[in-house]
Amino acid sequence: MHFAVADHPGLRPPGFKHSLYAALVTPRPIGWISTVSAGGVINLAPFSFFNLISGDPLACMYCANGSHVNGGPKDSLANVREVGEFVFNLCTYELREPMNLTAANSPRDVNEMAAAGLAAAPSVSVRPPRVSASPIALECTVFDIVELPSSSQTTNTMVLGRVEVVHIADEVVVDGMVDFSKVRPLGRLGYNDYSVVENVFTMIRPD
Ligand SMILES: Cc1cc2nc3c(=O)[nH]c(=O)nc-3n(C[C@H](O)[C@H](O)[C@H](O)COP(=O)(O)O)c2cc1C
Repeated sequence: MHFAVADHPGLRPPGFKHSLYAALVTPRPIGWISTVSAGGVINLAPFSFFNLISGDPLACMYCANGSHVNGGPKDSLANVREVGEFVFNLCTYELREPMNLTAANSPRDVNEMAAAGLAAAPSVSVRPPRVSASPIALECTVFDIVELPSSSQTTNTMVLGRVEVVHIADEVVVDGMVDFSKVRPLGRLGYNDYSVVENVFTMIRPD
């Protein structure tokens, strides 16, 4: 089958139980994004519309879709507008439950890292702390914030960040390489489904 996106607002064509939009490109990495407000309140939230996008500059993006349930932008967007910095924390299988807790629609004055029972580690170059238990973290400065052209009232805003400092836990580095079997990164599928990297194979490029 095929269908035109414009004919099905909400991306739920006949025969599908839920919107398809999160289930089409999978698995997606989870950008577990820590930010801080100008007043110093720490925020942490998962974003699967996230990726590392280039090596030079080493850069990544996440997209805040829609608004905070209490109105206005999501905290992860409001904070980077105020402070211009964020940290990507890699989410592992072991961290899946606290990650899920940080998706809660908490009020702006709640420290979501502490509320999820996670210890914060100070960053080296930016104000938002990183999640201490995450094996890989990227300290980022914002270089652009792009509002996407939406066909509805929904506001979808992409935040682009330059990576300034990389953290890698010694335990996941084996023979000079990141050992994915030790990291066990979590991936987001559609709906409420996830995957975990447990099966790695190697393939050499033709040239
Ligand atoms: C695994 C996962 C991935 C998510 N990805 C996104 C995303 O890419 N964009 C988004 O706007 N919300 C996403 N959400 C929902 C946000 O995490 C949620 O709205 C959160 O409350 C935003 O927090 P904030 O207001 O503190 O920024 C995701 C939730 C989960 C559980």
